[in-house]
Amino acid sequence: KAKVRTRHFLEAKRNGVRITGLTSYDTNTAAIFDAAGIDFLLVGDSAGNTVLGYDTTVPVTTEELIPLARAVASSVRRAFVVADLPFGSYEIGAEQALGTAIRFMKETGAHAVKLEGGRRSATQIARVVEAGIPVMAHIGFTPQSEHRLGGHRVQGRGAGADELLADALAVEDAGAFAVVLEMVPSEAARRVTERLTIPTIGVGAGPHVDGQLMVWTDFAGLSGGRVPRFVKRYADLRGVLTDAVTAFREDVEAGAYPAPEHEYPEA
Ligand code: KIV
Ligand code: NA
Repeated sequence: KAKVRTRHFLEAKRNGVRITGLTSYDTNTAAIFDAAGIDFLLVGDSAGNTVLGYDTTVPVTTEELIPLARAVASSVRRAFVVADLPFGSYEIGAEQALGTAIRFMKETGAHAVKLEGGRRSATQIARVVEAGIPVMAHIGFTPQSEHRLGGHRVQGRGAGADELLADALAVEDAGAFAVVLEMVPSEAARRVTERLTIPTIGVGAGPHVDGQLMVWTDFAGLSGGRVPRFVKRYADLRGVLTDAVTAFREDVEAGAYPAPEHEYPEA
């Protein structure tokens, strides 16, 4: 199958074909998701929570994400790889955003970058796109601003729906090829989706969007604790791994592992 390119996103929207995305932070999941036909893989700064053990995405750095993005980009054949710009690596201005985006493109092999913010990030998006780097925008709930937003809260309710639309139009005008809508009511997402030419990618934005994205450790049931309402658990990897590790420990303690077939013969 032909490699996914930005053109594919626009064509999918025009043709009513839904786009699929998952986060990935390593070579094994990247290869599995790619082979299963997922259109794009996001090397999200959600790695802060899912891989690095932080409470939020705020402390995640470019240095931490670059090796993960390189692992994912070098493990796909068809999927489009998007690298997240972490907090603090693009807010200062367009030149900072471009500098960080160039690092990800040169050092990882990712095909595009993602950054958070609508109207407030429009100049950054325009500068990065002008330099030849595709940008996926991200509006609605933006986790890097969770302290200002007062936690993980639904955005775009009531008058917030107009704010969401203004942000969506701003990122489209700035040249983004797609926009993530995170944690917004379905009707607000529908309104944005109908107004935009570029596809909307929902993360907790209901069904009336052009594509769906999930954090892979959530969709596959690896993460512990509570998951947001919008997550559907397609597997119980935490349960599978817990059973496997318990069986291993019990085998070792009982002397049942290794068995003869695991031993190297003398000659
Ligand atoms: O970092 C991430 O995983 C994300 C998605 C949840 C949108 O930004
Ligand atoms: Na992110």
